[in-house]
Amino acid sequence: MRIGLLGTGHVAQALAAGWARAGHDIVLGSRRPEDADLLTELKELLDAGVRVGTSSGAAAHAEVLVNATPGTASMAVLESIGAAALEGKVLLDVAVGFLEDKSLSHPVVSLGEEIQQAFPATPVVKTFSTIDRVVMVDPGSLSGPATIFLSGDDADAKRTVSGLLADLGWSEESVLDLGGIETARGQEHFALLFVGIARAIDSFAFGIRVVPPATA
Ligand SMILES: NC(=O)c1ccc[n+]([C@@H]2O[C@H](COP(=O)([O-])OP(=O)(O)OC[C@H]3O[C@@H](n4cnc5c(N)ncnc54)[C@H](OP(=O)(O)O)[C@@H]3O)[C@@H](O)[C@H]2O)c1
Repeated sequence: MRIGLLGTGHVAQALAAGWARAGHDIVLGSRRPEDADLLTELKELLDAGVRVGTSSGAAAHAEVLVNATPGTASMAVLESIGAAALEGKVLLDVAVGFLEDKSLSHPVVSLGEEIQQAFPATPVVKTFSTIDRVVMVDPGSLSGPATIFLSGDDADAKRTVSGLLADLGWSEESVLDLGGIETARGQEHFALLFVGIARAIDSFAFGIRVVPPATA
């Protein structure tokens, strides 16, 4: 599949490596695609066949476009690409917006919903925002199965994203579809608890698991 990733930071690099290993065709979208330091940092990925271009270039390439930019910058990045260029692409939204005081930039209506409202012809699926980048691409590194969540209005887009999760090692049983894009609020707010748990156990590389009730 043709995947574009907006951003070249921790998440974009991890996902690009994971999906490149699974055989996908990847373009990273950057504000500085010709920056020598960036190209040095990305050398291993470039050697693996990943390309780097502008945000618009990554979007043009993509069947699935991943938003891996800071949540406070995401709307500006997407608006710079434009609704016409995003139309019909699945937007996999990983982002969470943090303000300087570590509170959420979208405390009422989530970033995922804001993106969906602004780009109605681009189905948005929120996922990955409840786990660290290392676990995103290596769920088998955990001591047991974890749960990963999907939020989005479009069933086909969620099926496409589930396939990409499977390519990274997430079993079908580990994926919990929460419902429409409004459920992205819970995923984004979990970021606050995520930080607390990470401090308490002194690691970001953990998962959470939904434990259903015992059946009678
Ligand atoms: N780190 C995690 O494990 C994790 C887990 C779950 C969710 N998230 C969320 O995923 C998103 C990406 O996280 P990350 O850790 O990869 O962040 P990061 O390392 O800071 O990377 C973000 C990238 O976004 C691009 N970007 C575009 N506009 C920007 C702007 N105005 N300011 C700064 N960067 C801008 C930059 O790439 P260019 O310089 O090439 O343009 C930058 O490298 C965030 O929303 C974060 O909350 C992260």
